[in-house]
Amino acid sequence: MKTMKFPFPTEDDLALAAAVIRRGGLVAFPTETVYGLGGSALDPEAAMKIYAAKGRPSNNPLIIHLAKAEDAEKYCVTNGTFYTLASHFCPGPLTMILKKKDCIPYQVTGGLETVAVRIPSDPTAHRLIELAGVPIAAPSANLSGKPSPTCFAHIEHDLDGRADVLLGGGECEIGLESTIVKIDGGTPALLRPGGITPEMLSSVIGDLYIDECVTQKPAEGTRPLAPGMMYRHYAPDAPLVILDGEDEKVYSFLDSKREEHPGVLCFEEDMEALSGFDKRSIGKRGDPLSQARRLFAALRDFNDTSVPVIYARMPDREGVGLAVFNRLIKAAGYTIIKL
Ligand code: TXA
Ligand code: MG
Repeated sequence: MKTMKFPFPTEDDLALAAAVIRRGGLVAFPTETVYGLGGSALDPEAAMKIYAAKGRPSNNPLIIHLAKAEDAEKYCVTNGTFYTLASHFCPGPLTMILKKKDCIPYQVTGGLETVAVRIPSDPTAHRLIELAGVPIAAPSANLSGKPSPTCFAHIEHDLDGRADVLLGGGECEIGLESTIVKIDGGTPALLRPGGITPEMLSSVIGDLYIDECVTQKPAEGTRPLAPGMMYRHYAPDAPLVILDGEDEKVYSFLDSKREEHPGVLCFEEDMEALSGFDKRSIGKRGDPLSQARRLFAALRDFNDTSVPVIYARMPDREGVGLAVFNRLIKAAGYTIIKL
């Protein structure tokens, strides 16, 4: 497939991309969280093309992206919680799961009766959806299992030849995928942490159940509420191991591994102590927003090196830190060394 690339799309480029979506094609586009790979959410064949392009299992459902919250009525059964959350956090990095209406094909929802809905704030994403005139089903625009893309170079790397159009929009502001909350009845449940924190959600809707898969490996034989939580995810090419311990213990562990030439994913404060290592800082220890923004790019960066293993420092779980922690434990396949 010949891929059209627009790193800095004009209004005409967006109109062309919107027409591609309407005709059943695939368009990768920026959002404030990560880049998405979009197709018409009303077209079962477009959904199948998305799964094929990513190499993603088709029982792992897609998120549908809308231009405005009021449009949700057409595609799912809304409720008071939806409008409360939408009035506080939409457009923005929040995905809500509701009962689907018939017009949304099961190919989009991985066979489920519910559908995930998000209203992105990124201006390119917003305009693309508006011009397409249909909801856009879009998972993150990475090949399945790999770190999500947070800049145009990442989608070019993963999807050249696999999507009809690639649209750029600079670096993603948040850098990790949206917060997912299931609100189709009973106590709202957090299925995936992101830029909208549990504290922010609770402050407007009260009780919030946090799915165990957010902080630990899904138990054998259980079905996570979000099917996507089942799969190995976000992984760099080299094995990733998390080091959980105080500075000095981490530094001396790494010193003992110096001969192996490992990669190190660390905080800004560690850079001096770790001289001589092939390392990437994801920001200050107390700055989870910076860590979120830089995590996936740093993991991808190591794929251009020959490090045999990557050791990462354990992030704090405060605020958006919970999302950084969640992505890192998944990327590491839950391999944590307690020091
Ligand atoms: O920030 C984001 O959410 C990005 C951008 C492109 O919007 N999209 C994204 O999509 O992260 P994806 O497909 O990589 O992750 C969607 C997650 C998966 O874990 C999937 O299992 C879950 O949402 N999901 C989708 N529909 C669901 C449903 N009806 N019930 C439960 N989980 C669902
Ligand atoms: Mg994804």
